Amino acid sequence: MRMRSHPLAMLVLASLAPGSDPALAAGDVERGREIAAACSACHGPDGSSPSPTFPVLGGQHQEYLVQALLAYQAGTRADSIMGGAVQTLSRQQLEDVAAYFAAQKGLTGGLAGTRPAGAAPAAGGGMTASLSTIDAAGSLADLRAPAPSPVELAACPGKGSLTRDRDGDGLADAHDAAPGDAGEFVRDADGDGWFAICNVQQLQAIQTLGTGEGQRTSLDLATRNARRYELVQDLDLGAIASWVPVGNCGPEKNCMVARDRYGFAGALDGNGHTLRNLTVNQPEGGGVGMFGTLARSGVVRNLNLENARVTGRGGVGALVGANFGYVADCQASVHVVGRLATGGLVGGHAGQVVNCHVSGEVSGQAAVGGLAGDMNGVVRDSSADVVVSAGKGVGGLVGLSTTGKVLNSRATGVVSGADNVGGLVGVNTDAMVENSFATGAVQGSGTNVGGLVGFNSQSRVLSSFATGVVAGKDAVGGLIGRNNGAVRNVYSTAAASLIGDNAGGSIDATP
Ligand code: HEC
Repeated sequence: MRMRSHPLAMLVLASLAPGSDPALAAGDVERGREIAAACSACHGPDGSSPSPTFPVLGGQHQEYLVQALLAYQAGTRADSIMGGAVQTLSRQQLEDVAAYFAAQKGLTGGLAGTRPAGAAPAAGGGMTASLSTIDAAGSLADLRAPAPSPVELAACPGKGSLTRDRDGDGLADAHDAAPGDAGEFVRDADGDGWFAICNVQQLQAIQTLGTGEGQRTSLDLATRNARRYELVQDLDLGAIASWVPVGNCGPEKNCMVARDRYGFAGALDGNGHTLRNLTVNQPEGGGVGMFGTLARSGVVRNLNLENARVTGRGGVGALVGANFGYVADCQASVHVVGRLATGGLVGGHAGQVVNCHVSGEVSGQAAVGGLAGDMNGVVRDSSADVVVSAGKGVGGLVGLSTTGKVLNSRATGVVSGADNVGGLVGVNTDAMVENSFATGAVQGSGTNVGGLVGFNSQSRVLSSFATGVVAGKDAVGGLIGRNNGAVRNVYSTAAASLIGDNAGGSIDATP
């Protein structure tokens, strides 16, 4: 079992450089350093404890740390050690110590030394930065369009010719907010800093303006991809046979090299509107979705996808193929087909998904999940009601989570595969699931099949449960198929034993 050896390690998730973010400086790193001295006995001086018993804090996302510490203090996350450790700290001190650990290097060399022989090696330094790379999540979460203004809708184009393109930028006059200016295609009529997207053609032109045969524009792609946009009405994309994803892997079409460099780095606020009938058809493509790649600074929020049909090869998701950014407050009904790193909402996921809900069907080969395929990011307050079928690393919510976090989330769809199949998460490696559950039936033809998690490797599962019927060949558990991580405050209602194979794992039934 070498989960990290498969080739998608990783389409998008390899060696992210740690981000630093001044906007998150609610806590003070230097003050935090002093407080952290009291934590070092267990978590290590830089938060990269060598023992799997003590979670790695270094490089962890700051907001996450604050939330965890507040939960310990309030007792909503019950842990006698941690409850005591944070009891006397003020809110400001929690912020400070979180800032300190968030600024540390993270997993580098951390858990690797303690891994039992034969277990998956650390991913060649690859995942080390993990959550520290989630850029500016605090400020990204705040980035939203002001309430929609009627001025925007009134200023939408529509009166011009449907066939004539005066400025030659590829948008017919009727769709172009600036039909006489090849350097502009959208308007910010109310001056709030958000450009109105009035029609499907403008939405597509973020990526394709001026790129067709004989077309031109002076508004370059990088500029278009860094702007803030808002939808001013629902749109039907049904007339576009195959959408060109917004943001991608660059001219070389190589995401391993480009990472998020050519991703959409601006913001799209859907204002609660719906995009219907999106079709993206790139069976051999990487980074395939409405957005191909969403960059670290990218934000997509408050958007619904209805009947999105997306086909790709690796990094495939209805909303985002390869996500490094922040996706929040969304709903999607999907039909997604991929091979690797394929998810209902996001394919490869190194960012954050918050309060998103997906329904439909997802299928592929490896690292396939109802919401996310292959992730080292965060999924929070989200759900998938998705029928998921694939080969290895298959989960109702997430296929493969390496250092990822699934919090307050659920999966309710039927999940089937061969090995490493879980109702919620297929494989957890150095990862965490907390306050989450799965209710779907789970069917694996091979090994490591669990109602919640297929293979829980060096990972934690806390305060979570599963109620689905589970069937498999080897290492089959109502909650977890194979476990060598730490499990606490859990249950399952399946006839199968709680954990199929618990060699090296610890279970603590107390909350
Ligand atoms: C005596 C050992 C010990 C000390 C001292 C300690 N911790 Fe912990 N910490 C733990 C253990 C064990 C856990 C795992 C608890 C759990 O599973 O919920 C933990 C969990 C955490 C988590 C949650 C991590 C996650 O990934 O969810 C945070 C955050 C944390 N500790 C911060 C701190 C801070 C800050 C201090 C110092 C003020 C501190 N800890 C001191 C043992 C310790």
